[in-house]
Amino acid sequence: MSNNAAKHLFIWGSVLCFVILIVLTVDTMGKLDQRAPEITAEVDEGKKVWHKYDCIGCHTIFGNGSYFAPDMTKVTVRKPTGYLKKFIMNPRAIKPDSAMPVLGLTDKEADNLMAFLDWTSKVDTNGWPPAPILASARMDKTAGAGQVLFYRYDCAACHEIGGMGGVAGPDLTHVGSKHPDMEWHIRHLRSPETVVPDSAMPSFDHLTDQELKEIAEYMITLK
Ligand code: HEC
Ligand code: HEC
Repeated sequence: MSNNAAKHLFIWGSVLCFVILIVLTVDTMGKLDQRAPEITAEVDEGKKVWHKYDCIGCHTIFGNGSYFAPDMTKVTVRKPTGYLKKFIMNPRAIKPDSAMPVLGLTDKEADNLMAFLDWTSKVDTNGWPPAPILASARMDKTAGAGQVLFYRYDCAACHEIGGMGGVAGPDLTHVGSKHPDMEWHIRHLRSPETVVPDSAMPSFDHLTDQELKEIAEYMITLK
């Protein structure tokens, strides 16, 4: 290649890359507005409460913060807001050995925080954050729909299966032998305290009938 040809290749190559960059940037900027729901006054107040109590000193959100406590970005996808509000008002009433302190939130502050966390949960983050490494490692290629949902809705935060998971709830490794009835599981998931008096498990009433059925199917295979 002559010197001149090399020069042209360099100049036009650079121009082409620059044009592609501009087109993609404009395209992304145009889509940003559709990726988040509207910011209401409660969401705005909730964000201030989030800063006032330095929640980010322990939790991550949108990839920022500390790794001491669970990620909050999609928290209302994983658990219902009614349960989460009760939890943040008094974590140890739900989980006696909780490492989260009682922060002394007022009822109004807790409601605003829930509006904020529900807003962050609905932002289209393009799959961020990725599933926890342990959860994806446990998911073999043959995982059925129920097993995938078990990790998506973070049941493993409270339950162990085969030695991995949280300990706030009972070990589920053999739960299929203890409760072999699908209907029992569906009723329990919808409303734990109507099946087990004083149950500290959150309700999963916000899942679809199909999802509850698939989780129940997975539960009865655990023998
Ligand atoms: C000193 C550290 C600390 C601070 C500060 C803190 N948290 Fe937590 N939080 C935790 C830990 C640790 C957990 C995990 C549950 C456990 O072990 O208690 C948790 C759990 C939670 C949960 C339940 C998550 C789930 O998946 O069940 C929510 C919601 C929550 N925190 C919200 C907040 C909010 C909102 C604030 C600020 C107002 C806050 N936290 C401040 C440590 C903290
Ligand atoms: C915040 C903690 C927590 C989460 C999250 C949680 N559970 Fe539980 N779970 C409990 C507690 C506490 C109990 C014991 C009380 C009861 O049986 O209702 C329990 C009980 C159970 C039982 C009965 C176990 C037995 O030995 O009788 C099953 C089955 C179960 N959970 C399944 C699930 C599934 C599936 C999910 C996710 C969709 C889930 N849990 C999410 C805390 C939790």
